[in-house]
Amino acid sequence: MFSRRGFLTAAGAAGVLAELPVRGDALVPDLMELHATVKTVQLLPPDYPTTRIWSYGGGTPGPEIRVAQGSRVQRRFVNGLPQASSVHWHGIRTANSMDGVAGLTQAPVPPGESFDYDFFVRDAGTFWYHAHNRSAEQVARGLHGPLIIDEKTLPDVDRDVVLVLDDWLLEPEGGQLYPEFESRHDRSHAGRLGNFISTNGQSAWTQAAKRHERLRLRLINASSARIFALALVNFEGWVMALDGMPLPAPKAVTEDLLLGPGQRADLIVDVSAGDGEEAFLARIEDNRGYAQATFPVRGVSSTSRRGPPEPFPPNPAMEVTGLDAAKQLRLDMAGGAMGSLRSAVLDGQQAGFRQMAEANQFWAFNGTVGMTQTPLASVAQGETVRVSVSNDTAFPHAMHLHGMHFRTVHADGSLGHLRDTLLSFAGESHEIAFVADNPGDWAFHCHMLSHAASGMMTWIRVQA
Ligand code: C2O
Ligand code: CU
Repeated sequence: MFSRRGFLTAAGAAGVLAELPVRGDALVPDLMELHATVKTVQLLPPDYPTTRIWSYGGGTPGPEIRVAQGSRVQRRFVNGLPQASSVHWHGIRTANSMDGVAGLTQAPVPPGESFDYDFFVRDAGTFWYHAHNRSAEQVARGLHGPLIIDEKTLPDVDRDVVLVLDDWLLEPEGGQLYPEFESRHDRSHAGRLGNFISTNGQSAWTQAAKRHERLRLRLINASSARIFALALVNFEGWVMALDGMPLPAPKAVTEDLLLGPGQRADLIVDVSAGDGEEAFLARIEDNRGYAQATFPVRGVSSTSRRGPPEPFPPNPAMEVTGLDAAKQLRLDMAGGAMGSLRSAVLDGQQAGFRQMAEANQFWAFNGTVGMTQTPLASVAQGETVRVSVSNDTAFPHAMHLHGMHFRTVHADGSLGHLRDTLLSFAGESHEIAFVADNPGDWAFHCHMLSHAASGMMTWIRVQA
């Protein structure tokens, strides 16, 4: 690939460099930056205090990265933060070295330094990127943004709307982020739940729409622990894709849509409200609806009501086959407040729950707390893997597998939708299956980020 640095070196070797009108900064390779800095933003409504956050590109969410399916994404991550960091491309089937998991796939990038991410995107869909070092703090401080991969042929919609759902735990006085990111309570219970909920970094996100207009809503749950229950008001809608992967057939939205941390949903919605009314994406809490995104209806779109949308084209090489000969794994989740975990292996030694709690660790996978030198399992590239996931805790968890999507295997043997994050409620058991086609060391953790930091983090090695 042509690079300015390569060009100048070649020109220098030819002895003409001195004659070129070169500015010093022309020697910097032509790479787009993703710059993380401490920023002060108006997160709360006007008239309230500003909030100091950690930001990609100066705002929250970070800049939308949007490319066409099959293209190359190159970003120089520049760390202007007071803490080491790294960037993970959630749901993208990257090469392992580009997965951005500090301590597993790369060293954390120290303050003042940079790291060049460079990968191709095979799959169209709605993805996101976020910090993956001390994530419970860094993502909660605001380090995330949307990563949108356009289909080769764009679906027939009037508008494409990206909605990043988030929550923030703010001090009532002063509006700053509550500075305890390792709270024992958050870690041992449901995680860091915010007291201020935002869409695209705003308290009351609003965009005008027209009657009969067809919108594609890309919902991204970027919060650290909140499960969003969502409903459509004055829209007729269909779920088109989950976690970036298209459903074989659009599914009419007839009940609340649950979105766990890390999960995404692509909807197509038709505005059914009349001129002068409002349509909403609503958040449901205790049977009451709250506006998560508001669409005041102004005017009538030229097209009248349409029929159900065509499904999105499937992404390549996504079949989960070989289930009968699959390698069988187990993931028993245990621990937390009101749980039954008595002891687990902590730093190589059996520790009682009390001892774990003293180390601010509360959870275990298969009786082991957190990251270990050896993976949960080592599997051969191409092998089909089944994992029985049981939630023997009093809380929901959102298990995210890096590098590969999986399907739920239902009791009758049928397969669920492709996902990269599994929402599992207290007492539930699931079986998931995936083809280990992506070599490398892949993180497998709860996306309730306080849980990941206090025991719910492991990894799977796919051997080439
Ligand atoms: Cu979205 Cu390991 O994370
Ligand atoms: Cu969890």
